[in-house]
Amino acid sequence: MMSESLYPVPASLAVDARVTAADAARMHAQALADPDAFWRDQAQRLDWITPFTKVDESSFDEADFGISWFADGQLNVSANCIDRHLAERGDQPAIIWEGDNPSESRVITYAQLHEEVCRFANVLKGHGVRRGDRVTLYLPMIPEAAFAMLACTRIGAVHSIVFGGFSPDSLASRIRDCDSRLVITADEGLRGGKAVPLKANVDAALAHCTSVETVIVVQRTGADVPMVDGRDLFYGPARDAAAPDCPAEAMGAEDPLFILYTSGSTGTPKGVLHSTGGYLLWAAMTHAQVFDYRPGEVYWCTADIGWVTGHSYVVYGPLANGATTLMFEGVPNYPDHSRFWQVCDKWNVAIFYTAPTALRALMREGDAFVQGTSRKSLRILGSVGEPINPEAWQWYHRVVGEGRCPIVDTWWQTETGGILIAPLPGATDLKPGSATKPLFGVHPLLVDADGKELDGATEGNLCIAKSWPGQMRTVYGDHERFFQTYFTTYPGRYFTGDGARRDADGYYWITGRVDDVINVSGHRMGTAEVESALVAHAKVAEAAVVGMPHPIKGQGIYAYVTLNAHEEPSEELRKQLVAWVRSEIGPIATPDIIQFAPGLPKTRSGKIMRRILRKIAEGETDALGDISTLADPSVVEALIADSQMAA
Ligand code: WTA
Repeated sequence: MMSESLYPVPASLAVDARVTAADAARMHAQALADPDAFWRDQAQRLDWITPFTKVDESSFDEADFGISWFADGQLNVSANCIDRHLAERGDQPAIIWEGDNPSESRVITYAQLHEEVCRFANVLKGHGVRRGDRVTLYLPMIPEAAFAMLACTRIGAVHSIVFGGFSPDSLASRIRDCDSRLVITADEGLRGGKAVPLKANVDAALAHCTSVETVIVVQRTGADVPMVDGRDLFYGPARDAAAPDCPAEAMGAEDPLFILYTSGSTGTPKGVLHSTGGYLLWAAMTHAQVFDYRPGEVYWCTADIGWVTGHSYVVYGPLANGATTLMFEGVPNYPDHSRFWQVCDKWNVAIFYTAPTALRALMREGDAFVQGTSRKSLRILGSVGEPINPEAWQWYHRVVGEGRCPIVDTWWQTETGGILIAPLPGATDLKPGSATKPLFGVHPLLVDADGKELDGATEGNLCIAKSWPGQMRTVYGDHERFFQTYFTTYPGRYFTGDGARRDADGYYWITGRVDDVINVSGHRMGTAEVESALVAHAKVAEAAVVGMPHPIKGQGIYAYVTLNAHEEPSEELRKQLVAWVRSEIGPIATPDIIQFAPGLPKTRSGKIMRRILRKIAEGETDALGDISTLADPSVVEALIADSQMAA
């Protein structure tokens, strides 16, 4: 994982970057000396309807726990992302949409974005959506997804986006949890030339949801989809009939902006709730600083809007900064493995932000797919979602960026709203595989298992000592769970769930999750969710799921399954179980390996020893550690003998 080579800031960036080394030193010092003054200053990036007088009123302590920033200020997110840019750049592209099929694209100017968002907001209002109401989006990567998000913010509705790769069951539970009254979907999605039956999935989900009164269907492919009378409507005609202007609601800075469900180590996915003012400030500030965004540049983040990266760095950050954001419907390998770079050339992309898993998959196909394209417009490259191994980093730097583009490896989480640890291209020397240093006003610390803070070059559990504006505010509907999940492991600190190493230069190297969360192709998954899907199958008695190393996906899903008495393991059943998990959760949760296990290693009190299962899945069977506390140590021998990694 570690690499000692150093890539200094390119000479040109050192002088003309938005944040130079001198700026960075001054800003770090300001943020430390007088944080409220620093944040008051930074918050001027946004347009406030009512200026705030309060700044940080957050506390991580149980007695007065709560997160609050700029509480008495008022603003509107869509006005910040659109209206305030109209005078200067009404005719500049706000969104460039590149379809799955290379022959399809759309360019939407800020003026057009304004009209589209207003019309969508009026359609929502016409169907009874009011301030504070929850609206679920289950959409492909089409401009209407961004219009719908911004339309919600315009009228103060709270959006909850569910990634299109989730199953009807997963969608239903997310709709129920936040009690959405309206769902926005498309007839079908299109990825890599294949149709995704979004509307059919919504229909299946709504069989189990009573709160939904209206389903708005955007026609993406024009497929013939059944429409439920009185519930479903097509967006096109509704849009045409709606007025092209809609006032922007004045929202409190602490009013909820969106909910996004994410996996944790226990229980069902949590509805991470972000607020209006702090979140938007964080998205805007980090987008400008970390990507060194300059007016007129085309910026492309390949994430799907179903994930937090799509929220903060496809839509809110770039649009708040008046940028041109590219939105891509497709996949990296369609029509061929050159697609990313072809799109960069087609639209003159200056800043490109993607995930290590995509880079590793493309790297495997050979350099020719990259070298056949120009990429001369590229200036900054970014990475997100999982640790980037030095080999992939170097390939990205050398082959994709031809040695001239700094790579910003950005560490953050759904909970953090935006980037917390990352290099600043004009100020930070790079080390391949390290997310480098915290951004302004971010206070990471490493603690040992007992919560003791560790100094200097060391390795430990990554916590954050103080609130930052982009921090999540609560778990929707369960404030106690918010506190319990993040602030009780190490009292008084936000615990990230990640482990990290800090080197002698103060650089952070994220080593991965230290809890029961796995990261498959940059998608976060709770092992408990996959286990509960497996045990819901009639033939399964018990299941334990762990991550295993995977050359492309980063981690794969390794499931140990104990069948009910009298059930026989078979290849057929293995396939059934894989298909079962896909239908319960979605294709992103496809198990890579299912090992039928007559018994699982348990302590005498019945607790499954995951540490041992992890080691077996990693193929490290000679490093199992102490197994003498097991109720039946012989199970381990049997598991190793049958292990799929043994070969
Ligand atoms: C991991 C995605 C190493 C980490 C933005 C974190 C990373 C989880 C990096 C959050 C990175 C994200 N280096 N690990 N640059 N970025 N992670 O909520 O384990 O989908 O806790 O947010 O991804 O995943 P989430």
